[in-house]
Amino acid sequence: MAEKKGLEAFPVRGRRVLVRVDFNVPQDPNGQVADDRRIVEALPTLNHLRAAGARTILLTHLGRPEGRRDPKYSLRPIVHRLSAILGQSVPLADDLVGIHALEQSARLENGQFLLLENLRFHPGEEANDPAFAAQLAHLGEAFVEDAFGTVHRAHASTVGVPKRLPSCAGLLVQREVRELSRLREGPEPPYDVLLGGAKVNDKLPFLASFLGRARALLIGGALAFPFLEGRGFDLGATPVERGLERAVDEFFRRAASAGTEVILPEDLVVDRPGVVGAETHPVGAIPRDANAQDIGAATRDRFSRQLSSSRTVFWNGPLGRAEDSRFREGTREVLSRLGSVSGYHVAAGGDSARIAADLGVTGSFGFISTGGGAALEFVQGVELPGLAVLPDA
Ligand code: 3PG
Repeated sequence: MAEKKGLEAFPVRGRRVLVRVDFNVPQDPNGQVADDRRIVEALPTLNHLRAAGARTILLTHLGRPEGRRDPKYSLRPIVHRLSAILGQSVPLADDLVGIHALEQSARLENGQFLLLENLRFHPGEEANDPAFAAQLAHLGEAFVEDAFGTVHRAHASTVGVPKRLPSCAGLLVQREVRELSRLREGPEPPYDVLLGGAKVNDKLPFLASFLGRARALLIGGALAFPFLEGRGFDLGATPVERGLERAVDEFFRRAASAGTEVILPEDLVVDRPGVVGAETHPVGAIPRDANAQDIGAATRDRFSRQLSSSRTVFWNGPLGRAEDSRFREGTREVLSRLGSVSGYHVAAGGDSARIAADLGVTGSFGFISTGGGAALEFVQGVELPGLAVLPDA
């Protein structure tokens, strides 16, 4: 897609600049930041604004508090981490709009930051309420979009504000657009797509968007189960999403006519009641009491051999239950072997970046997107409202 206007020729010195960031980071059970990657990835833009003498007002959501103030979703833990990363104290404005927020933003000096409380504490954010967007816009004189993870949402902070102020893309958004455009527009063939995780119903349209564009779809995780059943395999006691039989049949038909190969697991690592340790069985011989948890050694080898001749690989979602150390070997081995394959490898979506970091395989990727749904929609070619609203370069 066309490059978006960036910070290069965007005057910010002494101006109050609203910056939409995506600090929707995972939290541990105590509410502390469990993974600060999204904060760290915003640093190039924040450092640029600080050095250029902007008065920066940061806007983000956290979780889905549904328009109500809920202490569980307060940005207090985030502002502590942000202050530590920036090496500068950042105040948190409890009110998103109104006289207090206006006063706090007016007090900012060049190079200082202010973080507004969770945007989704206000019902106007997700509703893209014009009055709320106008009040937010009133806090600043310019707008920078650096929340790539949220550009697929048409909310007040992502669409309403940039409509009302001179706007541009931040450095993170520009980088994501540049990198992911390689997949959206013309991935170098052979292009293979490696997918895992669960929620087949949600992911089917996404899978279908690769038909005819990718050489092969390699499917692991719980995502593979309805497809294996569709091929006639009995998965024993494994829970399989129901009601998808027709959609799966139709998917196989479309894949065949589009010339995209669908590569499914040949063997699975299973858990069985009363059996200590994991067992591996071919997909044609899964015991009745077995619950499939990971791809087996033959599948890891098949997937890795396929990927060894790819020039472009897109990965989303673990190939087994990677949160359990007994069932992460499939994901780890395939991604680690990918590290010795030359080509352009991209990881995107949900927890994939965190899993890659936990498994020590981030080095296998040329680019790891900060986007979940946004990255998945972008590579499918969908127009994203938070990008469409920004001026082209
Ligand atoms: C994400 O984590 O994908 C973004 O922050 C968007 O969050 P949402 O799915 O709650 O809109």
